[in-house]
Amino acid sequence: MALTLVIGGDNAGVDYKSALKAQLEKDPRVARVIDVGVDSADDGTFYPNIATAAAEKVAAGEADRALLFCGTGLGVAIAANKVKGVRAVTAHDVYSVQRSVLSNNAQVLTMGQRVIGLELARELVNQWLELTFDETSASAEKVDAITQYENS
Ligand code: RB5
Repeated sequence: MALTLVIGGDNAGVDYKSALKAQLEKDPRVARVIDVGVDSADDGTFYPNIATAAAEKVAAGEADRALLFCGTGLGVAIAANKVKGVRAVTAHDVYSVQRSVLSNNAQVLTMGQRVIGLELARELVNQWLELTFDETSASAEKVDAITQYENS
């Protein structure tokens, strides 16, 4: 089933956010892209506000996943992880992107515009869309332990 995605980034990630939004909107695996901003490098909205807005949509079931950008990818991941039920990771290599879904069932992928080249970011997102967590895998019990801690 085609995915609903949230995309966002602060002014240090807006160029990649715009580029990846255009890519995702053309991708048949994507049903809808919800853009939570920012729309320009002049918009000084802080990265935590962008990240939590996106993560709340995932937590509420309004979107399947979120893709977030800032300068490093780190701040948006930290902020998104404050939203209950959300597992956000920063990943700039293919193995980490793969394991973020297959091992950790992360719904949020973050990247740093100041860290990774645009073409690599494009390809990692392309591969990310192919990945699905296996609820019957050995990893499921471990992810459940995160949820149990969060709910305790
Ligand atoms: C710029 O505010 C920069 O600190 C931010 O984009 C991000 O890299 C933080 O983690």
